[in-house]
Amino acid sequence: METVVSGIRSTGKLHLGNYYGAITNFVKMQREYNCYFFIADLHALTTHPTPEDLYANVRQVVVEYLAAGIDPEAATIYIQSDVPEVAELYLYLNMNAYVGELERAASFKDKVRANPDNVNAGLLTYPVLMAADILLHRATKVPVGKDQEQHLEMSRTFANRFNRLYKTEYFAEPYAFSFDSKLVKIPGLDGKGKMGKSEGEANAVYLSDSPEVIRKKVMRAVTDSGPTVPNQPKADAIQNLFDLMAVVSSPDTVQHFNEQYNNCAIRYGDLKKQLAEDMIAATEPVRTRIHEISNDNDYISNVIRMGNEKARESARKTLTEVREIIGFRKF
Ligand code: TYM
Repeated sequence: METVVSGIRSTGKLHLGNYYGAITNFVKMQREYNCYFFIADLHALTTHPTPEDLYANVRQVVVEYLAAGIDPEAATIYIQSDVPEVAELYLYLNMNAYVGELERAASFKDKVRANPDNVNAGLLTYPVLMAADILLHRATKVPVGKDQEQHLEMSRTFANRFNRLYKTEYFAEPYAFSFDSKLVKIPGLDGKGKMGKSEGEANAVYLSDSPEVIRKKVMRAVTDSGPTVPNQPKADAIQNLFDLMAVVSSPDTVQHFNEQYNNCAIRYGDLKKQLAEDMIAATEPVRTRIHEISNDNDYISNVIRMGNEKARESARKTLTEVREIIGFRKF
C-alpha cells in the first residue's frame, strides 16, 4: 500500500485554505492509503513562539484535525517533535542541500520580504525539514495545496541526490497530490493572493470562527465598483469571491451570480450574503466538533500517544537503514 505523509504548521487555528487545500484530501485518503498526518511544531519554531503559545497551538491543530474528520484508527496522527528521528534525517539531508537552491525557493524569498529581521537558518532549510518529514516514512504521495508544490519538487531533488550519492534506490520520489485533478489554491478576502494566517486577520476565515464572525469578515471583503459592460473580465478581488463560492456553494448559485455579473446586474452585497451563509453551512459540522473535542483531554492524549508510537516505529526503521547506507556501522 502506498504511503502518504502530510503536515500542517502549528501556528494557530486552521483556515479554509488549510481545510480545502489539505485536510479534505487527508480525510478522503485515510482509508485507502497508509497515512501519516502530523502537526509541524518544529517548523513553527521559525517564528519563535512562546512555550505557552506553542503548546496551545499544537493542541488546537490536533483538535481541528479530529474535528475535520481525520480518524485516528485509520490514519496515524502525531506531533513532529515527538519523533526525534526527523531531526536526524534533516541533518543528513542538509549535507546535501545547497545554500543557493534554498535561497531561490519562493517561500523563502516571501518570508525574507515579509520579515527581514528574522532571516534565520531554520527558515532557509525549511524545505529540507519538509523533505525529512516525507522521506522519514518513505512516502510517495503528499496531499498539499498549490503553495507547497515547489517544496515537493525540492523533496524529490534531495531524495534523488541521497540515492545518487550512496548508489542506492532507497528513497522513492514523493509527489504533491490532490483528489481534484489539480492542486487547490483558496483565495483570501483581501482581494489579493491566497488565504493565509500571515496575511492579516481579515483575510482568512477560520474553521473555528462563529457564524457572526464569518458574516462580518465576508461582508468586509474587498470588491470593486461593479461591471459597466456585459461580460467584462473580473478583477482579482471579484474572481476570488467567485472562486470561494465555487468551493462552498452549489453550482446553481455560482451560475446565478455569474449571470448577474455578466448582465451588469450584480449586487455584491447579495453575493457576499450568500457566500457567508454557504461558508457557515459548509463548516458547521466541523465547528460543532471542535467545541466537543476540545473539552476531551483524555481522548486527545490517547490519540496522540497511539499516533506517536506508530510514527516512531516507522521512523526508527528508516533511520536504522539510512545510517547503514551512510556508513555509520557498529564497532
Ligand atoms: P501550512 O501550515 O502553511 O499549510 C498547511 C496545508 O494547507 C495548505 N494551504 C492551502 N491550500 C490551498 N489554499 C490556501 N490558501 C492554503 N493555505 C494553506 C498548504 O498547501 C498545506 O498543504 N510546510 C507545510 C507544512 C509541512 C508539510 C510537511 C506538508 C511541514 N512538513 C511535509 C507536507 C509534507 C506548511 O507550512 O503548511
